[in-house]
Amino acid sequence: MERTFLMVKPDGVQRGLIGEIISRFERKGLQLVAAKFMMVTPEIAERHYAEHVGKDFYPPLVDFITASPVFAMVWQGDNVIALSRALIGKTNALDAAPGTIRSDYAVHTNFNLIHGSDSAESAGREISIFFGPNELVDYEQTI
Ligand code: CMP
Repeated sequence: MERTFLMVKPDGVQRGLIGEIISRFERKGLQLVAAKFMMVTPEIAERHYAEHVGKDFYPPLVDFITASPVFAMVWQGDNVIALSRALIGKTNALDAAPGTIRSDYAVHTNFNLIHGSDSAESAGREISIFFGPNELVDYEQTI
């Protein structure tokens, strides 16, 4: 069983797509174990996007992600990292396969609606930036 960090970015929140995005992961059969509606501080942004510090898109990326609320989540399930990225689609909406979230709703790389961890290592790191261990609610599915 794997876990991943997913975050509806400010553009997804402002466009009213939180429900639509959550619905896609629910219908896939993945399990929500944590969620938080919050502002990303500059400190959190710097930790989350550490690998992009120094790149030309980093300053506008931080401005964007800190400007208005995000919806941060942890999901779990078998192969949840790869499955989530398949549902989300490629970073650039032009390359995203039809039927993916980014293909269906995004136009621009800078406003691509949702973040999903790209590896188990990233997932562990990103979950620990946004959530404390007590905020993850593990439960057995009985129905
Ligand atoms: P994400 O993969 O969630 O995290 C890094 C973000 O930086 C990425 O989504 C895009 O929104 C943004 N970004 C802007 N330009 C680029 C680029 N050239 N390559 C990768 N990410 C970019």
